[in-house]
Amino acid sequence: MKKFTLTNTVQSKEDQEKQLNLKKAGEIPEHIAIIMDGNGRWAKSKGSIRLHGHKVGVDSVRDITESCAQLGVKYLTLYAFSTENWGRPSAEVRGLMRLLVSSLRKEAENLHKNDIKMVTIGQMEKFPKDCQKELQEAIDLTKDNTRLQLCLALSYSGRWDITEAVKKIAEHVKEGRLDPALINDQMIAEHLSTADVPDPDLIIRTSGEYRISNFLLWQLAYSELYITKQFWPDFRRDELYEAIESYQSRDRRFGKINNGEDEKGLSTRLLKNKKK
Ligand code: FPP
Repeated sequence: MKKFTLTNTVQSKEDQEKQLNLKKAGEIPEHIAIIMDGNGRWAKSKGSIRLHGHKVGVDSVRDITESCAQLGVKYLTLYAFSTENWGRPSAEVRGLMRLLVSSLRKEAENLHKNDIKMVTIGQMEKFPKDCQKELQEAIDLTKDNTRLQLCLALSYSGRWDITEAVKKIAEHVKEGRLDPALINDQMIAEHLSTADVPDPDLIIRTSGEYRISNFLLWQLAYSELYITKQFWPDFRRDELYEAIESYQSRDRRFGKINNGEDEKGLSTRLLKNKKK
């Protein structure tokens, strides 16, 4: 198998074993979405400036992307910059943009070599021109890759996504090409920025906040939620494995009853995500 070198390190035997055990234990989520939170508080706890937290956060992005690819996760969506983040002090916003540009410059080739496709959702046009250029180059370079799709949500919000979908559907109605009675869940999903991607199986939020913060509002309807106290810069592969273990212990019913329940509602089968 191809050697994976996104972090420029050789994978340890111990880590290979952990991944193997995780794969044996149950289903690996096909799509993981992450609200990367706590960079600022992490930096503060180290007596450092917020931007330092974002910089170390990029190391977490690299480690999580690499371990997801190794585990066979097919889609990883990261909330990197929300529409609300524009309201932060301009020095921090500028710092984040610079970090994005320098990270893309450093990592795009590496993503490509490792068969990872990078895409974005959100209002990329709001970003500075140099940022847009770097993003577009990484998107173009990696467009045919198939191992893992890494999606960066940039100037993204769930409400923006739904609003845009509604506008597009309303246009079809206005042009007389669509009967409003035919609008359904599937049609709305097909007009979202994530149209070609399955809904997240697992949503992870770091830093202990119990909020969705305007992330993939429509798409998270039946996602399993995992919240950890760890700040994003401390969230590395071992923490990801814990999140997946938790996912494997869930019984996903999608609003229905458990297929294995008897008439008294007693479970007659093992948890769905857990292998027998
Ligand atoms: C949340 O922490 C984090 C962000 C708003 C930005 C996330 C960005 C990165 C990890 C770096 C760039 C990303 C890529 C993909 C290259 P916070 O600042 O809200 O922390 P706080 O809640 O403790 O203040």
